[in-house]
Amino acid sequence: MIRARITGTGSYLPENIRTNFDIEKMVDTTNDWILARTGIEERRIAAEGEYTSDLATRAAERALEMAGVSASEIDLIILGTITGDYPWPATACIVQKNLGADNAYAYDISAACSGFVYAMGCASDFIQAGRGKKVLVIGAETLSRIVDWTDRNTCVLFGDGAGAVVLEASENSDSGILSSHMHSDGSYFDLLYQPGFGTRVMPSTQAISDHIPYLKMQGNEVFKVAVRSLTTVSNEALDAHGLSASDVSLFVPHQANKRILEATAKRVKLNDDQVYINVHKYGNTSGATIPVAMDEANRAGMLKAGDIVLLSAFGGGFTWGSNLLRW
Ligand code: ACO
Repeated sequence: MIRARITGTGSYLPENIRTNFDIEKMVDTTNDWILARTGIEERRIAAEGEYTSDLATRAAERALEMAGVSASEIDLIILGTITGDYPWPATACIVQKNLGADNAYAYDISAACSGFVYAMGCASDFIQAGRGKKVLVIGAETLSRIVDWTDRNTCVLFGDGAGAVVLEASENSDSGILSSHMHSDGSYFDLLYQPGFGTRVMPSTQAISDHIPYLKMQGNEVFKVAVRSLTTVSNEALDAHGLSASDVSLFVPHQANKRILEATAKRVKLNDDQVYINVHKYGNTSGATIPVAMDEANRAGMLKAGDIVLLSAFGGGFTWGSNLLRW
């Protein structure tokens, strides 16, 4: 059986740090409120002239370097993002150009915070179908550009960053992506979305003064469905392989906020030492949180051959999903 195995991980976080104390000066909030409600201490903000494609390219270069794979060997690039450089073409195509991945084709996936997990599922299917041997999967966002920095309900939560993995076909291997489960429910679309500018609401002076180009969220509702969905999809992944929570070496959930992660881990019956958390450093970087966290864990030597690693995400759409891996 062919499986898609991770042979390299990489991440890139912009240098500029925005702390809760910086945000205290921008909106009516406090470090204590943000810490208590989210666990976030600081987040990274892309520099002027630094775009999602730049973040994605840097993360991808690091993953390729670790894998010892050259860009020209890559068959497919899939980028999970909701903050692409342009409405189109796909930012993955710009990353392809930056890397010189001339033999690949490239596309974006728009699944918000589930973008990376969705992309991993598609890449695994591509490799298992024998359509190619090497795939670059990236999650990258510059959410600071679509956050309303006058809205205290949302601006404290998000940050910028990118993470990437190289997946390679591995024959007769026990390790790699064991399965992916993906779901969505569009009836919730307007609880977490960016009203403009698509083709439904076109740019106008009025739309800009109404803050239409910025992310909108009903936080309470999102919280409840996020915990429920992350729990269900994590159990679904384990059940599909007859595994229980104690078999999981590392749970790498989408880093939305600490309360969502703790509530989910408790319901899935995972201990603190099984859960990777870095949301305090970067906030919610949407599609980038899981590959950034996985790269940190990998480079810290926390992922060993044979380990069961569970990735679960939830985001706008609503979308949610999981990838179960044997490292
Ligand atoms: N500073 C101070 N007060 C604030 C702030 C802030 N930054 N933001 C909101 N408040 C106030 C509200 O105005 C409200 O005041 P009121 O009672 O006078 O009306 C009060 O705090 C309570 O507001 P709630 O929205 O009920 O606060 P809650 O405990 O739900 O926490 C939060 C808000 C942190 C957004 C929470 O709902 C949450 O974590 N939701 C999930 C959102 C999320 O993670 N979204 C990311 C995308 S989806 C994903 O990645 C899974």
